[in-house]
Amino acid sequence: MISRRGFLRFIGGSFLSVASFSAYAVGIEPMLLTHVKRYALTPPNWPAGLKLRIVALADIHACRPWMSPERIASLAEEANALQPDLIVLLGDYISGMRLVSRRVTPPEWAGALSGLKAPLGVLSILGNHDWWNDGFAQRAGVGPTIARKALEKVGIPVLENDVVRLEKEGHGVWIAGLADQLALLPKEEADGFTGLDDLDGTLGKIGDAAPVILLAHEPDIFPKVPWRVSLTLSGHTHGGQVRLFGYSPVVPSRYGNRYVYGHVVESDRNLIVSGGLGFSKLPIRFGMRPEILSIDLG
Ligand SMILES: [Fe+2]
Repeated sequence: MISRRGFLRFIGGSFLSVASFSAYAVGIEPMLLTHVKRYALTPPNWPAGLKLRIVALADIHACRPWMSPERIASLAEEANALQPDLIVLLGDYISGMRLVSRRVTPPEWAGALSGLKAPLGVLSILGNHDWWNDGFAQRAGVGPTIARKALEKVGIPVLENDVVRLEKEGHGVWIAGLADQLALLPKEEADGFTGLDDLDGTLGKIGDAAPVILLAHEPDIFPKVPWRVSLTLSGHTHGGQVRLFGYSPVVPSRYGNRYVYGHVVESDRNLIVSGGLGFSKLPIRFGMRPEILSIDLG
């Protein structure tokens, strides 16, 4: 039999464990433990002599207190300090979370991102939350979304089924950006989400043999991405937000843990999924620190 004192000690200990776990998962890991996740790879057929550093920010989900404009501005400074050739933004700037102390408006988060600087520029795509939280775009079924307008206003191009050709030291490289695969919410309960993505149309705009980097917010497109694409960069999953022993119990992907996080190689094709920076649904991160990606190709 457990004594009364033992029982109270057990309750007190449990309370403290729950309190310290909550403080860690809600405050410390998400707010204080942002890190730089580095990858280095030479994709198949990559041109000899082309060295490219891409820094990527994913799933910012701007909201107070977790992702204030001040924090976004400091993440932008951290991204610049990595001396990338190119910075890409992988979508989900807007937060759909209710547990916020104050909303952060598109001009505020876009203004904070306007500090990003790289020699080949800053390019972006949109995510599902940038569509889902835009009532006008939902009703119209087309953009431009508020998020797109805010990014363009600070000089950051948004690629929705579009491509850009960049050049570094005489080598060309294409950046292709896919429109969101879950953009439109179901109209009836029985309906699914409607994607606005057009992979074939996007890749059809590639005009020469230079390598292609594809930006696609949700990684679920990956089985359809042809070998011609050297690297696909995605976000959206947040690595599940909670990840233990290399396993994420909750993943917003029809493929479960297959594309939840990290570098995936399938049939000689490369995908990197960022664990992102912010949250969706609940303000918790555990075993999945917010991250800035720094990828060296070549
Ligand atoms: Fe997303």
